[in-house]
Amino acid sequence: MNPMLTIAVRAAREAGRVITRNFNRLDRLSVSDKGNNDFVSEVDRNAEAVIINLLREKYPNHAILAEESGKHDGDDYQWVIDPLDGTTNFLHGLPQFAVSIALKIKSRLEVGVVYNPVSEEMYTACRGEGAQLNDRKIRVSSRKGLDGALLGTGLPYRDFRFTDNYMGMLKDLIRESAGVRRPGSAALDFAYVAAGRTDGFWELGLKEWDFAAGALLVREAGGLVTDIGGGERYLETGNVIAGSIKVHNAMLKRILPHLDSKLTA
Ligand code: IPD
Ligand code: CA
Ligand code: CA
Repeated sequence: MNPMLTIAVRAAREAGRVITRNFNRLDRLSVSDKGNNDFVSEVDRNAEAVIINLLREKYPNHAILAEESGKHDGDDYQWVIDPLDGTTNFLHGLPQFAVSIALKIKSRLEVGVVYNPVSEEMYTACRGEGAQLNDRKIRVSSRKGLDGALLGTGLPYRDFRFTDNYMGMLKDLIRESAGVRRPGSAALDFAYVAAGRTDGFWELGLKEWDFAAGALLVREAGGLVTDIGGGERYLETGNVIAGSIKVHNAMLKRILPHLDSKLTA
């Protein structure tokens, strides 16, 4: 196994232990509000510290971009970390959250790990080597279009500037697909597309740490990830569509009429 993937997997498991240990003492956690509907708990911070300590020990010169502690400078290798993706679910006792760790080398995604510590599902990918779920190869679904497709999404809950655009997309996509789900962890939403559990996914306003690892999983599982206008800059804009190639293209066609130039800028 790629040694950097091995470390990322170890870090994800250790962070997962911090998270599950605290899942049955939610009433005693200290929680603060980072902004409008944006909560952070001591668990997010402790899980992030565990990951960073492990990576730092092994790779002291690598750069880091982590949700809770921000940017740490370093060389051309950058770890992109969301220690607990799905904090709102976690704080409500809803067991749908994950640890997400990606590695970029000179801005290109090379390694991705998404770990659900409750189901103990470990999704892994290295560029050019495919994607796995608990060491078994996964592929995106073979569905040919929206007919019968199950889609994932994220509803706006913090930034409501593009809610009307989003609602237009949702309205068209619920009509043409078999259904739309909002599970609440973007990292897992991408992992489910990679595993063929859902056929496609879209969301507006994600941050890089939410889906850097997930995007590599989808690509390595044979799927397509683009920004909401069909371009390449999805990690920057955070407005993203992912799916098997045919479902992605069908989704893009329904989404384009609802775009605002600010969403692709
Ligand atoms: C959130 C989750 C959620 C998505 C939000 C993210 P967090 O991450 O991924 O599914 O809709 O946009 O911010 O805050 O729980 O790490
Ligand atoms: Ca997140
Ligand atoms: Ca988070």
